[in-house]
Amino acid sequence: METQTLQAIFSLLFFSFTFLFLLFALLMKVLSVSRRRYCECEVCKAYLTGSWLTQFPNLADWYAHLLRNSPTGTIHIHVLNNVVTANPTNVEHMLKTNFHNYPKGKRFSAILGDLLGKGIFTADGHAWHSQRKAASLALGGASVRKNAFNVVTKEVETRLIPLLSSMQGSVDLQELFSTFAFRTICKISFGFDPEELELSRPLSEYVAAFDRASMLSALRATSAIPLVWKVKRFLNIGSEKELKQAIEIVNELATIVISNCRKSDSENSHDILSRFMHTGNGKEIDDVYLRDVVVSFLLAGRDTVASGLAAFFLLLSTNPSALSAIREEISHVTEGKRDHEMSYDDIKSMHYVHAALHESLRLLPPVPFDSKFAAGDDILPDGTEITQGTRVMYHSYAMARMKSVWGADCKEFRPERWLSDDGVFTPESPFKYPVFQAGLRVCLGRELALMEMKTVIVSVLREFDVEVALQNGDLPRFAPALTTSFKGGIPANIRRR
Ligand code: HEM
Repeated sequence: METQTLQAIFSLLFFSFTFLFLLFALLMKVLSVSRRRYCECEVCKAYLTGSWLTQFPNLADWYAHLLRNSPTGTIHIHVLNNVVTANPTNVEHMLKTNFHNYPKGKRFSAILGDLLGKGIFTADGHAWHSQRKAASLALGGASVRKNAFNVVTKEVETRLIPLLSSMQGSVDLQELFSTFAFRTICKISFGFDPEELELSRPLSEYVAAFDRASMLSALRATSAIPLVWKVKRFLNIGSEKELKQAIEIVNELATIVISNCRKSDSENSHDILSRFMHTGNGKEIDDVYLRDVVVSFLLAGRDTVASGLAAFFLLLSTNPSALSAIREEISHVTEGKRDHEMSYDDIKSMHYVHAALHESLRLLPPVPFDSKFAAGDDILPDGTEITQGTRVMYHSYAMARMKSVWGADCKEFRPERWLSDDGVFTPESPFKYPVFQAGLRVCLGRELALMEMKTVIVSVLREFDVEVALQNGDLPRFAPALTTSFKGGIPANIRRR
């Protein structure tokens, strides 16, 4: 036999053996993980078979039910190695008292790292600390806040209100606020109107890719066997192939945003990205870092605000007394003023609006739960034992439905629970209300988001009646996403008053 033929046979044998060995190793790993993940308890069986779906519209409602029935307000989903808590004392422990034992962890950055890179949402330790410092400087300045208020009021006056006037009739509130929040966060964070950019594809394609990427990243977290999505990613098939393609489109947008910002950059720019560009003490900040800033701020500022606004109008439409109280307060504060004459102080002085918004965020929080991964063994204040590597989750959505936390009327939309007898807004402990998280990683965009949402609420309710058209009066089901969103959107009828 010729040497070449022998070589070919040898190579074939070698590669076949290597392939079979890898396949065998993979199979063993899947089997060992499955065995570890097997659990006979009712809760785990219900999770794995999906039987909870016969009684509850959403996973979050099932968790809320389990948490309400747990004497400690904490449960353990063994097959996910996931402890879920709705107990404020535990929340304070993980977000403040024993913060260092509850980082985002490697598993979190594995799930979201492809989309969010090494941005603030996936970072821990020193990397997180330096980004937090840069982000608080970028968001905390008076000029940034003033700029943000100007951007929001202009966007409301020149786009949102004329758009609503022109499309009187049926509107999908979720889509409407998503577009609004996308434009607004682009202007505040990157200093430009996305429609003015020279893009290689329609803006809607970038927005859709961003939504797809968030949804597919969120799906990874629900898998009982993470190895499955990791193998799919390795082989570039199915949902992981789709995710990769969506992220490529998101990256394309980020590249355009960064180059645009670099061109128009000056020390006096008020947008957040420019502020980040000047954090290097004279050294040029690289594009990979800035790409992660762009994607993180898009996620932080768009989906959360859109979700918060859609949920507000959804809940308000079934609460006529709250609507009357809001309208009364708006008339009182803005008497004789036109929209563009409304100031930040006017918006701030509306205590009832502030309370109603806090109440809708309580019942339908844009970030319904948040997870950390235990760095070491620990015991939560309620006695729950935590072993290293356990995913520990506080569940804001479920907390709102706990009598032990909010009283017997916890499930009702009642803005008055936030007001003192003389109508002054009274904040609650952030560990009882971790809608913006709490402790050392508390949301940095809270004030900005509240200002933006209240400006929209006041401007829309001054001029329009908004009636959400719910099928059989039921809340629509949640869609899989990183933030609360509804399958099929939120259809509403809009009429000028
Ligand atoms: C209704 C609106 C909003 C809600 C409910 C909200 C909620 C949250 C939550 C729950 C977290 C913790 C996330 C995590 O660690 O996994 C967070 C973090 C953060 N938020 Fe917000 N957010 C909102 C709007 C905004 C806006 C408009 C911005 C900025 C433009 C922003 C900037 C941030 C940043 C930078 C962090 C990271 C803080 C850190 O890890 O140290 N947020 N937010």
